[in-house]
Amino acid sequence: MTTRLAHRLDGIPPTIFTTMSALAIRTGAVNLGQGFPDADGPASVLDAARDAIASGANQYAPGNGVAVLRQAIARHQHRHYGLGLDPDSQVVVTTGCTEGIAAALLALVDPGDEVVVLEPYYDSYVAMIQMAGGVRRPVTLRAPDFRLDAEELRAAVGPRTRLVLLNSPHNPTGTVLTRAELQAVADVALEHDLLVVTDEVYEHLTFGDHDHVPLATLPGMFERTLTLSSAGKSYSVTGWKVGWATGPAALVGAVLAASQWLTFTSGAPLQPAVAHGLDAEPEWPRALAASLEKRRDLLCDGLASLGLDVRRPEGTYFALTDISSLGWRDGMEFCLALPERAGVVAIPAQPFHDSAAGDQLVRWAFCKEVDVIEEGLRRLAAADLSR
Ligand SMILES: Cc1ncc(COP(=O)(O)O)c(C=O)c1O
Repeated sequence: MTTRLAHRLDGIPPTIFTTMSALAIRTGAVNLGQGFPDADGPASVLDAARDAIASGANQYAPGNGVAVLRQAIARHQHRHYGLGLDPDSQVVVTTGCTEGIAAALLALVDPGDEVVVLEPYYDSYVAMIQMAGGVRRPVTLRAPDFRLDAEELRAAVGPRTRLVLLNSPHNPTGTVLTRAELQAVADVALEHDLLVVTDEVYEHLTFGDHDHVPLATLPGMFERTLTLSSAGKSYSVTGWKVGWATGPAALVGAVLAASQWLTFTSGAPLQPAVAHGLDAEPEWPRALAASLEKRRDLLCDGLASLGLDVRRPEGTYFALTDISSLGWRDGMEFCLALPERAGVVAIPAQPFHDSAAGDQLVRWAFCKEVDVIEEGLRRLAAADLSR
């Protein structure tokens, strides 16, 4: 019997991360592809999870998340951004940011509604906009600077636009939207009465003087902004999938209305452990960012010395390179050849684009340990990378 997938999945390929990580395992390649760190998060957070399991926090957590975590998230938003939130009505815990994205789109987008989204996009956005029946309207961050063009943003908005789906710090370009760029988003949202869903999972992972500004802090924006984040990147626990949505009660309630039917709840013993991290280890993510910045430089300098055009990212785990200087026109072809040629895996940026803007772009992760990055660079330097 052949199984026909429902039309809501038409044309959505398996996530590129599964494909490339499987390739890394099969070929024994150094995985500079998928964005997960090699090192664990803070010991006290891991201990808190073990303690929670030992003390019996092993049954369903409340659907909106355990109170200690919702309170810790509210304190986090206040400590870092001066946002005052009611932990009962303006915070909901989700199964990673990924479920927050899914629930927000399922709850807020009707079939035929348009969603304006930054391109390149995190690939779950495409899948979930489509599953919600929405239509994506990409606004491209273009090489070499990958800045947001306010005119292009304005042109993407039309009568069917329901919401803007934003991501800053931005995966995969490493762009951290400036206050002026965010103001352009706010102006459009206010003028056209749009909602904004903003994915801020890399909120603490910024470099140099590129500080993250949450859109919700701009004048008039709190009321129309749903902010999504998660513990995965900030505390190096990507496998825990503890995320959250914050904002006005109506938007947070919308997320809960959908998420209660997706997973209902998640990771009961992990939630108090994340609360401990937010409250007791508030400086840990910034220390991680400082260490990542050094690894960014190691990777970017190494890739540049191989003749690649490198975009030095302002935040996140990732650096983009243009491979045309090595004679390649197609990032997918390059990335599929790379494990054989060099014993390294990277991620093509094509699957994150509708347009051809990503055809020659390849993403490399520097959230790996120094010796892993060095080994990857050694292998690349020893290989013939030209087409
Ligand atoms: C932009 C972006 N949003 C969301 C996620 C997923 O977050 P979580 O693991 O909390 O579901 C990722 C992970 O790579 C990401 O890069």
